[in-house]
Amino acid sequence: MFRNREMKIGSYLGGVILASLFFWQCRSVKTVTVFQQVQHPVDNESSLEKIELGRALFFDERLSIDNSISCASCHLPELAFTDGKVVSEGVGGRLTARNSPTILNSGYLTTVMFDAHLPTLEMQAIVPIQEHVEMDMDMNALIEKLKAVPEYQAAAKSVFGRDFDPWVLTRSIAAFERSLISNNSRFDRYYYFGDQLALTESEQAGWKLFSEKLYCTECHAPPHFTSFEAENNGLYTDYGEDKGRFRIHNDSLDIGMFKVPSLRNIALTSPYMHDGSMGSLDDVILHYSEGGAGHLLQSDIVKPFELNPHEVVQLKNFLGALTDTSYMINFRD
Ligand code: HEC
Ligand code: HEC
Repeated sequence: MFRNREMKIGSYLGGVILASLFFWQCRSVKTVTVFQQVQHPVDNESSLEKIELGRALFFDERLSIDNSISCASCHLPELAFTDGKVVSEGVGGRLTARNSPTILNSGYLTTVMFDAHLPTLEMQAIVPIQEHVEMDMDMNALIEKLKAVPEYQAAAKSVFGRDFDPWVLTRSIAAFERSLISNNSRFDRYYYFGDQLALTESEQAGWKLFSEKLYCTECHAPPHFTSFEAENNGLYTDYGEDKGRFRIHNDSLDIGMFKVPSLRNIALTSPYMHDGSMGSLDDVILHYSEGGAGHLLQSDIVKPFELNPHEVVQLKNFLGALTDTSYMINFRD
């Protein structure tokens, strides 16, 4: 009898605890956000119709001179909007100077491009369209070409109340890019939503290495895993042709400075660095563990360290837990 009552009380108490845990979880899910809402420029508020127009343009090969290359040729959804190549290939197989970066979460960037010099996504969109090695398109000719597509002209009228023009083109592509959010990795569930089981022990140990033993979070801090700043991570002693941000203002202090890339979805975005020179995360970890190449302007933060092979695996496992492919729901047929 007693035992029974005790059990009843026990299960009653257990129920209360479970229920309060459940409510606590719900509360924390409601209040915790991984990122702030994306800020839209005042002259480019978002709407579903605008995003749809931007999406159609992003995937449209007619944006290039010979109808062969779209934005998505170099920014493939399944590779977190990168292309898996060392450097990208534009029209006629022409090679770009750099590796294609992810477009996911680009709405949060304070500056765009590896040189951290363009202030907005709207301005960025014009660059690949006109670049000889990318889409090689004359803007005036492109507008005539796209205005003649009835769906585009109709959408321009309906969304913007004007004819299809560069404003419509750049605003809608940028609105589409701002809709590409990826912040639901297993790391996010562990770190922001308190789900202790979301990461394996090895991944948790890797996170400790990344954030405590090593110095990675100095430049790749959560939630975005980038400081948004340009830094010199000592990739080379001599940067050769591509000196990074230096090419914008010719300021010698900018030699070797590149915008710190986000490490979200890093397992999907090899090869690495602005020139795609590192094929694997092993190469990257080796680079940092050797303390960088020792460029004159290399950041003081990058110093040699030692990890045993087991710890290298833990660090890589942690980086793998930054993958979140839930954004792909919007890109499946
Ligand atoms: C031929 C390949 C290619 C095409 C086509 C292309 N891109 Fe890119 N994209 C790149 C490369 C390479 C970079 C890095 C350039 C740099 O930083 O100097 C880049 C950079 C970007 C960035 C900056 C991301 C960041 O982290 O700063 C955005 C945004 C972007 N592209 C959007 C687009 C859009 C929109 C289009 C179509 C209008 C497009 N791209 C077409 C290869 C391409
Ligand atoms: C001083 C700032 C700084 C620190 C500290 C730093 N990084 Fe980086 N990281 C960068 C910069 C800048 C780049 C891009 C360099 C380039 O493109 O040439 C980069 C690139 C990377 C990349 C390649 C990303 C891509 O998409 O190509 C990985 C991976 C990476 N870092 C991991 C780490 C790890 C792991 C640590 C800690 C051991 C670390 N970083 C510490 C600044 C830093």
